[in-house]
Amino acid sequence: MKIVVIGTGYVGLVSGTCFAEMGNKVICVDNNIEKIENLKKGILPIFEPGLEPLVIKNVERGTLQFTTNLKDALNVSEIVFIAVGTPMGDDGSADLQYVLDVAASIGKSMQKRLVIVDKSTVPVGTADKVKATIQKELDKRGVAIEFDMVSNPEFLKEGAAINDFMKPDRVVIGAESDFALEKMKQLYTPFCMSRERFIEMDIRSAEMTKYAANAMLATKISFMNEIANICEKVGADANQVRIGIGSDSRIGYGFIYPGCGYGGSCFPKDVKALKKIAEDYNYNAKLITSVEEVNDAQKLVIAHKIVAKFGEDLTGKTFGIWGLAFKPGTDDMREAPAIYIINELVKRGAKIQAYDPKAMEEAKVCYLKDVENITYVNSKYEALNNADAMLLLTEWKEFRSPDFEEIKEKLKAPVIFDGRNQYNIFNLEEKGFEYYQIGKN
Ligand code: UDX
Repeated sequence: MKIVVIGTGYVGLVSGTCFAEMGNKVICVDNNIEKIENLKKGILPIFEPGLEPLVIKNVERGTLQFTTNLKDALNVSEIVFIAVGTPMGDDGSADLQYVLDVAASIGKSMQKRLVIVDKSTVPVGTADKVKATIQKELDKRGVAIEFDMVSNPEFLKEGAAINDFMKPDRVVIGAESDFALEKMKQLYTPFCMSRERFIEMDIRSAEMTKYAANAMLATKISFMNEIANICEKVGADANQVRIGIGSDSRIGYGFIYPGCGYGGSCFPKDVKALKKIAEDYNYNAKLITSVEEVNDAQKLVIAHKIVAKFGEDLTGKTFGIWGLAFKPGTDDMREAPAIYIINELVKRGAKIQAYDPKAMEEAKVCYLKDVENITYVNSKYEALNNADAMLLLTEWKEFRSPDFEEIKEKLKAPVIFDGRNQYNIFNLEEKGFEYYQIGKN
């Protein structure tokens, strides 16, 4: 099939590339010339495992093209995906400016019937706004061209996005016409060899499904973090409790790992946006509000443990940090717990030595650019040189089974704060460490 994907950010680039990999003819459009020129050369704006070779391969065989020319792209396509960003506005709602700008551009340029798909995570009712915006432009031109709206939310996990796209758990399609539904089924059938993976619904329910899924997962995490905090008070072990409750198939093992809070581009933004959507309809979403509050507090739990050990004033103390990204497998630092923890420690006078396999550039140029007293190093053990304690903040594989003797040699004193409960199986107290984790004293 012939597809246009507008927006070469995370969602657009992964979706476009995976559609191309299946043999479709895909044109990815972006208004950022530099980004498009780089993509043509195989230089990607993000790191996602497995994505770069797929982009290069599909560009070479002609199934994937990059351009800034939307008009030409629309003329040769059947389906248009809107996959531009919906950043968080000042009031917590999703900012629809880019989505509606794109809608207007489509209305100005389209020459034939198109299926228009919202892939960006957008508030309930956005498809109606997109439709009205396109229609307005068509009316201005005085032309009558049919088009069909679809909401098709994405459920990609960073670090596993290619696999998630190629083998989806489900493909949610909210379509306003049978014509559009059929087109979407044709497009997605090769990705889910059984049609049972299609979940058809009305457009507003499809838009809501994305928020409900992310809010549910965020709720599981905040719930478990709250249980972990209570475990510490009552002398229980959250790791054992996790296994105890996860074994109930109604609860399940997924997304109940206690830690230093959820981050990333989706959960924090979508939880906030859902709260705002509810507010707009005069509903006070108390549970969703609490999920966010628990997470905000959880991001500082490790810092509080450090203060409890070293005191309020951390002047003269150095902390060696393993992991900056919000989770392993990505260079993404959006809303990463590391940002909050590092800022808190530095504010109290501490020095930081940090190492992350992928996210140090992001940290330097963006998320921690204003933070003084931070040194970036090239290996995990170097980060511990003469440090007062080690902090594990992202559970990258290379951190999971380290040489504890080497850690001990490098640190001033053998103290570990484990924000991801990775090392509790190693009997660190017996190895002479002072070991702090989440949900167990
Ligand atoms: C998430 C959703 O999983 C995905 O379906 C959606 O499309 C986008 O948002 P992503 O943000 O890539 O994906 O990350 P995910 O793997 O879900 O992890 C989110 C955060 O939760 C991370 O910070 C992670 O460390 C944290 N987490 C996850 C926990 O703290 N405990 C858990 O048990 C699971």
